[in-house]
Amino acid sequence: MKKSVFSAVSAVAMISASVAVAEPQAEVLHYWTSGGEAKSAAVLQKEFADNGGTWTDMPVAGGGGDAAMTALRARVLSGNAPTAVQLKGPAIQEWYEEGVLADISSVAEAEGWADVLPSSIAAHMKCEGTWCAAPVNVHRVDWIWANADVLEANGIEMPTSWDEFNAAAEKLQAAGVIPLAHGGQAWQDATVFEGVALGILGPDGFRKAFVDLDADTLTSDKMKAVFDQMRTMRGFVDENFPGRDWNLATAMVMNGEAAFQIMGDWAKGEFLAAGKVPGEDFLCASTPGDGFLYNVDSFAMFDVGGDDKKAGQELLAKLVVGKNFQKVFNLNKGSIPARTDVELDEFDSCAHLSAEDMKASSEGGSLLPSYAHGMALRGAQAGAITDVVTSHFNSDMSSDDAVQQLLTAVQNSM
Ligand code: GAL
Repeated sequence: MKKSVFSAVSAVAMISASVAVAEPQAEVLHYWTSGGEAKSAAVLQKEFADNGGTWTDMPVAGGGGDAAMTALRARVLSGNAPTAVQLKGPAIQEWYEEGVLADISSVAEAEGWADVLPSSIAAHMKCEGTWCAAPVNVHRVDWIWANADVLEANGIEMPTSWDEFNAAAEKLQAAGVIPLAHGGQAWQDATVFEGVALGILGPDGFRKAFVDLDADTLTSDKMKAVFDQMRTMRGFVDENFPGRDWNLATAMVMNGEAAFQIMGDWAKGEFLAAGKVPGEDFLCASTPGDGFLYNVDSFAMFDVGGDDKKAGQELLAKLVVGKNFQKVFNLNKGSIPARTDVELDEFDSCAHLSAEDMKASSEGGSLLPSYAHGMALRGAQAGAITDVVTSHFNSDMSSDDAVQQLLTAVQNSM
């Protein structure tokens, strides 16, 4: 009798152990390491832990993510991919084509992502019809940030044209104020460049140049005018700009050392983390011209095996697109929710401007993928353009030479 009871109990114990729900685990590679970014990433880490997950953080410093993507390639090539990666735009497709991404369609369908995501965002998250990434936000790239007191003290309004920007910059320079806070890193040069390009080429010209890679547009007189403006802007940065991290440039505007910064609205995350108030301490305005350059952060899950990691990926994907996270994270990050059903009543005036402009540009056909932040092109093409842009900014290259090098670089990258 005793033996049979023991064997029955041990059998139940073995069955219960085998069907125990796997503890969600995730090693997460990302590059959110600045003040505002880290505060935002902590929101996700807390939600993951509050839902029983164990988060192993793999932050790789370096704005724009180039260093993070290098680290990712090394990990995947060594057969040890992270569980989840901050990955966006066409890079998602590139990794999908390598056959290393996990399918998260079960989460997307259970959570009804298709009903709450704009089609332009959902398209970036799908690979041959399956869901292969989870969208976090919508950052706008084409912003000018300004120190409100510095502008008022110098009788300057936020510029609505590049001529107005140049006139304001010259007035500030004469008053001993650094007009443009900038970090001399290729991705930051590209960020400024694409804001200038959107304004001078216009939305259709931008699309022809940086989505279609149209040769005539890349070598047009208007593209030469973009490089002319970049040459002018080079004269508005301080001598210590080379290598400066983007958030240190933001700090220069915060402390009044500089007047403007042209940067995506992750810069707003820095102002907010420092307790600065939009409309009082700092101002936001789109860079001169029509259109909206979007940059959607997302997480892709890598096919790493293990029930615990699969559970971690499913939990992470669910949380990332969840309504609460979409509000709390984006309030900190400076972006706006990817979901269309999140109330913006707690968001600030800059976020409302972004949401309004995004809606208007979507309806007007001027909602465009950022080339500088990996939304418009695959890595080889985007990198080829950025190499020319940063080479021009850091030399005395003529605009005529720049457009020829631009075309050649793009053609050689195909
Ligand atoms: C962008 C990224 C943002 C922010 C920024 C600075 O590419 O999408 O979330 O991290 O770089 O690092």
